[in-house]
Amino acid sequence: MTNGQLFSRTTQALFYTYKQLPIQQMLDFDFLCGRETPSVAGIISPSSHKFHKFFFGQQEILIPVYSSIEVACVAHPNADVLINFATFGSVVASSLAALKQPTIRVVSIISEVVSESDTKQLIACARVNNKVVIGPTNVGGIQAGAFKIGDTVGTIENIIHCKLYSPGSVGFVYKSGELSNKLYNTIACATDGIYEGISIGGYVLPCSTLSDHVLRFNNIPQVKMMVVLGELHGSDEFSILEALKQGKVTKPIVAWGAKIGGEVNSAQAKNKALREAGAVVPTSYEDFEAAIKETFDKLVVEGKITLVKELISPSQIPEDFNTAIRNGKVRVPSHIISTISDERGKEPCYAGVAVSSIIEQGYGVGDVISLLWFKRKLPRYCAQFIEMCIMLCADHGPCASGAHNAIVASRAGKDTVSCLVSGLLTIGPRFGGAIDDAARYFKDACDRNITPYEFVESMKKKGIRVPGIGHRIKNRDNKDKRVEMLQKYARMHFPCVKYMEYANEVEEYTLSKANNLILNIDGAIGSLFLDLLVGSGMFTELDVDEIVQIGYLNGLFILARSIGLIGHTFDQKRLKQPLYRHPWEDVLYTK
Ligand code: ACO
Ligand code: LMR
Repeated sequence: MTNGQLFSRTTQALFYTYKQLPIQQMLDFDFLCGRETPSVAGIISPSSHKFHKFFFGQQEILIPVYSSIEVACVAHPNADVLINFATFGSVVASSLAALKQPTIRVVSIISEVVSESDTKQLIACARVNNKVVIGPTNVGGIQAGAFKIGDTVGTIENIIHCKLYSPGSVGFVYKSGELSNKLYNTIACATDGIYEGISIGGYVLPCSTLSDHVLRFNNIPQVKMMVVLGELHGSDEFSILEALKQGKVTKPIVAWGAKIGGEVNSAQAKNKALREAGAVVPTSYEDFEAAIKETFDKLVVEGKITLVKELISPSQIPEDFNTAIRNGKVRVPSHIISTISDERGKEPCYAGVAVSSIIEQGYGVGDVISLLWFKRKLPRYCAQFIEMCIMLCADHGPCASGAHNAIVASRAGKDTVSCLVSGLLTIGPRFGGAIDDAARYFKDACDRNITPYEFVESMKKKGIRVPGIGHRIKNRDNKDKRVEMLQKYARMHFPCVKYMEYANEVEEYTLSKANNLILNIDGAIGSLFLDLLVGSGMFTELDVDEIVQIGYLNGLFILARSIGLIGHTFDQKRLKQPLYRHPWEDVLYTK
């Protein structure tokens, strides 16, 4: 056990296991006191994090994380305190490891459970290595204006209230937390404040005793008087008696052996013995404050304590953002606006419809798409049309661009997302991504009442292929069955199909130019979707223009084709085909 100071304004600690709150409270205390360096140098935790983020005042700092005490001690030779929040399973091993490090001087064990035999082992190890162990089960310690262990004394408000940001003249030692927090306040009111407060822990066998700390305080010049709050298990107060009787304690002690449970008599006996040995012991706990005040005032009168006007004012700790919001002190603009879904209730809602109703009322995928894309429930025939598009465009064999890419990626051993994305990335103006453009051009031409001839020829003049027209394998004699099915459905269910009819007239003209210039699936969906939007009566002219301008409709093909692309990915993985490779005969090599 050391003879005097355990901590100073430059003390740094290593923190065993990551505990956000107590570490942040230590750093807030540091900032409050105007410390220049944070008191936590490193965290020992078996996590994969390299650092954890904390605030030091307003500034964000990174505290490094180490996998072992040994590595942390090598990295931070100046950190001489280990604060141990380890769990039951690792507290003893980690404390012993810390005690064996040449750089560690003090180990504070916060953990709840340490057996008596383990505690004896810790005491022996501390003795051999000339180290101090505080605890087990201690509730921390604090040197006012200098260093705080974990969450001692609780909130910053309480620390300010107890004037712990600047040192006073009282050394305070106590067992556990039950009465101590109140006593910090009491001492702050009755004296010029605490110099150091330390908890030895509520356990029957503490590694360092009340008297160890009393004798240590006796050697600290700044400590002018001591306050001791004992508890009735253990015989620790009797060791103070011995020290008092032997004249080892030269500074006044105000002590109270609090009763725990029903052991009133032995509490009285203990207090009586302390009183007889020279400690100031009030007749009741209620008189404790008066006794502390009297002892302090006497020291002032005797000139042993000079009262200084409070010079140090604590630094202002910036309030946590979330707390400030909760208390209505700040307002911030949100970063995202969302109008399609809401997750804040008991269950997610799509455009105001709870997912449970979606299931209970038998909504289909088309309804979900209409809620999340168009923010309204479309008539059933519309939702069914959307579902048909999804089903019909889900796949078109392994030779289409997207499937080919997904297959190659899958055979190259890529994961599902990569295979899917490599396929999706082929969707564009010449493959599956012409629906929006088809809708745009057909709408513009049809709305302007220009003939299909004028439309196609004007596109030709501009050098633009008519989106939605043409196919690599389909032609006049081998029309795309999917187009026929969608058009048949629309004729039966849509109130009007004017854009479809316009697209068919365009096809009639382009087919007069070449056999393969049929209305393809993109052109069919693009024109039919215009009819759906307009015919449903649920969208204004402006809405329709916006949907077409933004480019909603390629989304249908992307969504649908994802089903097939994932299918091809799985298929290849099951087939365990070798890496895809073209034969060199398939390549024209040129200079
Ligand atoms: N509009 C006008 N002329 C066309 C069109 C068209 N949409 N498509 C082809 N042509 C012409 C070409 O200009 C070419 O004529 P040229 O030889 O005088 O230059 C001739 O027809 C043949 O063109 P190719 O490029 O050989 O046709 P290909 O069969 O390779 O292309 C494709 C098919 C990509 C669909 C093409 O027709 C096209 O680009 N269409 C427009 C975009 C489109 O609709 N894409 C979606 C296709 S559907 C799907 O992928 C699910
Ligand atoms: C498809 O749906 O993938 C096809 O129309 C495209 C193609 O090249 O056949």
